[in-house]
Amino acid sequence: MLISGKDLLQRAHEGGYAVGAFNTNNLEFTKAIIEAAEEMNAPVLVQTSMGAIEYAGHDEMGEMVRLIGEKAKVPVALHLDHGTDLGVVMRCLRKGWTSVMYDGSKLDYDENVRIAKFVVDAAHPMGVGVEAELGKIGGVEEHVNVDEKEATFTDPDEAYDFVTKTGVDSLAVAIGTAHGVYKGEPKLDFERLRIIKEKLNMPIVLHGASGVPDEAIAEAVRLGVNKINIDTELRLAFKAGISKFMAENPEAYDPRKILGAGIKAIKEVVKNKIRIFGSEGKA
Ligand code: 13P
Repeated sequence: MLISGKDLLQRAHEGGYAVGAFNTNNLEFTKAIIEAAEEMNAPVLVQTSMGAIEYAGHDEMGEMVRLIGEKAKVPVALHLDHGTDLGVVMRCLRKGWTSVMYDGSKLDYDENVRIAKFVVDAAHPMGVGVEAELGKIGGVEEHVNVDEKEATFTDPDEAYDFVTKTGVDSLAVAIGTAHGVYKGEPKLDFERLRIIKEKLNMPIVLHGASGVPDEAIAEAVRLGVNKINIDTELRLAFKAGISKFMAENPEAYDPRKILGAGIKAIKEVVKNKIRIFGSEGKA
């Protein structure tokens, strides 16, 4: 069933676990994510970046995920990831997304507050949850590119002020993760996370979780992270699954078999993440 991202994350906050938010670009990723969640009896967020929406088409992407999500045996939320363009955010609200991220983290603070509040006022009457970001998460992700030197950690007092003024439902925090592939091992600022959770007492979001060691993820969940974004690891699994299949079956040309190998590989990653996040059996 398709449900509001707000309800899904509120349950995770109360239950002390994290829900996986997995990025999709097409039918294969969407099927893999939802099938894996069903097999784990776990709630899940299927998220679309602005780049994915551009690639698939706004209506096409929305209809596809909503349809598969509605038929699912587990709660599914359709989420907009990194909505830096207010027009795209508003179109997602009109087209049935059940959760949106307004990303004003590159704007100055007052402007970020003003627009986030505007999005909240539009989304809440529709039952749609709003995520925002404070601090700057490093790395490259399609429309979002933050130089390592520009990345700044979330300030707990500022976060409290921001949430109070805007009424957002969840907050993405910068505590040392980055989008994309890590060069070294990421070091997370757990003490900062603990303080933020204590002050805000609301769902906290971790971006850039691909490549973060399982123990660090488990500790972040224990300290109050309730939504964890995974993109890069799914892409790598898809590529590896298809490459292996083609190496073993060089004559293959049926796209369902080729892409099917990618789906299988993505499902394994999603199921493993759900286990680590603690959302197995929480549907
Ligand atoms: P990764 O690509 O590091 O998994 O990050 C995904 C993400 O945070 C999407 O917003």
